[in-house]
Amino acid sequence: MKGVILAGGTGSRLYPKTRNTNKHLLPVGGVPMIHHGIGKLKEAGIDEILIVTGKAHIDLMIEELGFGGALGVRVSYEIQEEAGGVAEALGLAGGFSGGEPVAVLLGDNIFSDSLEAHVRPFLESEAQAMVFLKRVKDPERFGIATFADGRICAIEEKPSKPVSDYAVTGIYLYKPQVFSIINRLKPSERKELEITDVNRAFLHTGLLDFRILTGHWIDAGTHASLAEADRLFTPSVSAEVRHS
Ligand code: G1P
Repeated sequence: MKGVILAGGTGSRLYPKTRNTNKHLLPVGGVPMIHHGIGKLKEAGIDEILIVTGKAHIDLMIEELGFGGALGVRVSYEIQEEAGGVAEALGLAGGFSGGEPVAVLLGDNIFSDSLEAHVRPFLESEAQAMVFLKRVKDPERFGIATFADGRICAIEEKPSKPVSDYAVTGIYLYKPQVFSIINRLKPSERKELEITDVNRAFLHTGLLDFRILTGHWIDAGTHASLAEADRLFTPSVSAEVRHS
């Protein structure tokens, strides 16, 4: 399995911190945010990693990660020309995937669960996609999954009246069929290709599996959540939290 980290976007919600840098290079727990995703892929046994990022500040990203040698992984890059959505960014990874399955992380998702135990069962299953859910206090900020009889029956992107509090996090496992689904996607009302529409396509064909995260998970895309991620993922602090 190969790994893809989506690390584009303008980081407008984190302005002015993102005026001169990419959001994913802001520090979380003492290291640039992007290192968390790389560490999680590595932990899952994935060492061939594509970073999809915008043109602005790609030089800083390359300066930070190079080709990954110092981190024990192989890193390559793809540029997303405009902010066309998460699914558009993932579509740029089709060539890199080369017909192999991919583990996809949104670079601002910082989490503690290991993915290692889920990779093999997913690869050996009939499922074409696996999403990772986490209960949240602010469901209107996320893609939200609804359940019926223990199975996901619907996913809604940022619902104004959420009927569940299970967020679909930015952690996904996909088999290569995902790229033909992305090719057929139509832009949403906000003129983006939505990852929620990709997951819905798998849901409708009965090929979507899921897991529920038990550890910390944060989308560090706002000032408040970035501060929270930094607090939780600073090593000494998280050790204290674990022991309290
Ligand atoms: C994206 C997805 C959303 C998901 C979230 C997780 O939202 O569209 O479904 O719940 O990531 O971080 P965005 O942060 O791009 O608005």
